[in-house]
Amino acid sequence: MKKPFDLTFSVGPTQISQVVKDDIAHAVANNFLSVSHRGEDFTQISEMTVNALRQLYNVPEDYRIFFTTSATEGWEICARNLVEKEAFSFVCGHFSSAFAHCLNSWGKTCHEDVAPWGELNDHLNVDIPQTAELITLCHNETSTGVTVPDDTIQKLRQKYSDCLLAIDVTSSIGACNLDINQADVWYFSTQKGWGLPSGLGVMFVGPRAMAKSKAMLSKHLPQGFFNFTNMEKQMADGKYQTIQTPNILNIYLLGQQCKRLQQTGLQNVHNKTLVRASDLYNFFESHPNAKPFVEDPTVRSPFSLCIELGEENLTHYKQKASQQKIELGSGYGKLKKTHIRIANYPALTDTDFEILKEIFES
Ligand SMILES: Cc1ncc(COP(=O)(O)O)c(C=O)c1O
Repeated sequence: MKKPFDLTFSVGPTQISQVVKDDIAHAVANNFLSVSHRGEDFTQISEMTVNALRQLYNVPEDYRIFFTTSATEGWEICARNLVEKEAFSFVCGHFSSAFAHCLNSWGKTCHEDVAPWGELNDHLNVDIPQTAELITLCHNETSTGVTVPDDTIQKLRQKYSDCLLAIDVTSSIGACNLDINQADVWYFSTQKGWGLPSGLGVMFVGPRAMAKSKAMLSKHLPQGFFNFTNMEKQMADGKYQTIQTPNILNIYLLGQQCKRLQQTGLQNVHNKTLVRASDLYNFFESHPNAKPFVEDPTVRSPFSLCIELGEENLTHYKQKASQQKIELGSGYGKLKKTHIRIANYPALTDTDFEILKEIFES
């Protein structure tokens, strides 16, 4: 296979920076990839990463940190561990909708509030049935480019304080700050904001979610093998292990990435993301052939921008980019032929974005 491109703006898997490539080389050279996932060497790697994640995101001591295979598996695990009968999902695009489908596929009733693509739900003016055991939302809906503002999450938490809340942060974490106390479960994979390869998922699981899962287990409700109790057992007693043979390379890389972000300061990374996004939105708003898909600037994603071009322009700019060995990410699903999505993750440099703008300058 030949090298597909030199630089990608795809929203995931994302561009891998040189420092991460160096970490990969280090892990390979030192045989980290071949250590036993039941041995002391793996424990050291996993403990390093759990601690680094906990420190970076101020994950409270009573929240468990689990390694999974993907964010998709996060939906499955939440559906089986946290919902006996009913859930409620805010749907504003493909990924938030997929969680609702996943709940349905496990035989749970999932009430939905559906916003049109490109818009965000009016979270605080929706009636969520009292029977809902879990509320799900997607912090950054990667398919459409809308982001839930932080104060909406806080207010939702206050309004429905008795209900469990699970938040998908797959395409925002690593590029922003989060207040982990504001939800019971946060889950993500690594191939987006973290700037790492795909194939690792992580869940932060709070005490109320753990309690709910254990209560379901004691009622003999089927939760499958990947239940929080089993996952906790593998992590406990200083083992830091997983049920499955995990993605050891990515666990190592994630720990290293956390340490770097800790040094830069998460707030600085977040601020830079916001400044760069604002510059990019201004650029595309004043462009004759392009416009941001999301009309309301207050809910536009700073992490994954969705830009409407139309079919002809899309072909033109994609070809132009590809001549320079640059990949522009396509729109999602029904937006594939008319829109592009642009990652604004920390792994991409300011110079990369100057190159991007040049593509659109003629
Ligand atoms: C918001 C969001 N959630 C979940 C997923 C699924 O992630 P994974 O493919 O790692 O399971 C994606 C993938 O693009 C996503 O963008």
